Amino acid sequence: MGILEWATSPLGQRVPIHIAWSLIWFALIAGLLFLIVHAIYVRYFAKEKEFAAAPARETGVELPARIPRHSLAARLFHWIMAAAMFVLLFTAFLPKSGMQFNWVTYHWIAGMVLTASILFHIIHATFYLDFWSIWPDRSDLEDAGRRFQRFMGRSTPLPRKFAKYPLENKLYHAVVMLSGLAVIITGLFMMFRVRTIFFPRNPYLFSDMTWGMMYVLHGLAGVGLITLTIVHVYFAVRPEKLPITASMIGGSMSREFYLKEHDPKRWVIKGLSQGRSMADGD
Ligand code: HEM
Repeated sequence: MGILEWATSPLGQRVPIHIAWSLIWFALIAGLLFLIVHAIYVRYFAKEKEFAAAPARETGVELPARIPRHSLAARLFHWIMAAAMFVLLFTAFLPKSGMQFNWVTYHWIAGMVLTASILFHIIHATFYLDFWSIWPDRSDLEDAGRRFQRFMGRSTPLPRKFAKYPLENKLYHAVVMLSGLAVIITGLFMMFRVRTIFFPRNPYLFSDMTWGMMYVLHGLAGVGLITLTIVHVYFAVRPEKLPITASMIGGSMSREFYLKEHDPKRWVIKGLSQGRSMADGD
């Protein structure tokens, strides 16, 4: 049993038609295993997080009680994108596991919502937010090295506190971005295979082989998003992460949480004194 399903085209060529649907179960189990192993590790083995001490002047006296983290536009984007993502996952995979309904229409409509929300996000993040805050930098890599050394029991300096996003979040964002772009780009072409309100159906746009590869990429990125979504929701509901999740609803987090986990020099809050540069609550 392979990871793809194959068929013979009218020209007698063997072409892939889509992924083997058993991969859905593989992705589900991978996500569940991850959260079980992680939860056991945190509960029984992980040590308390330790960071290098912040310099004395960063006592937080000049900080407001609530630290802005996500603007209203960023929160609306997040929840619209999340709703579209759930509709896409359920409409794509429920029919494959036996629940029959007219899924294609709901699926492409949710696909258009996801596409529009991502276009908005790219423009918003590029021109209005701190674009570089979500990409790994040199300090992240140095600190990851330090954390690994300490995990192995070697003595190295403590890692610094995080900037706005820890390295794990940045890596997660990069993987979700790649899978998301893969389903969007292939999905937009796949709209030519079904009846939509946008353009006439044209299944002859590509050769059978090209269509097959496109369906395979769409499916692989799609099942990957099952695992990624499980992992994301798991972290969102972990007790120690709840203040972060709440900030995606209310927009802000407490000063205490900010100072405990974040380095005010690496995540500078908008509008504070001493002429600091402006990063923000994006
Ligand atoms: C979480 C994101 C997504 C997942 C998990 C997903 C998954 C799937 C799956 C498993 C199929 C069935 C493919 C097959 O039969 O081989 C499918 C079909 C389809 N997808 Fe997606 N998809 C996603 C996003 C999108 C997006 C963003 C669009 C449009 C922009 C889109 C448009 C389509 C279309 C038009 C089809 C129907 C193709 C057909 O029946 O011939 N999808 N999708």
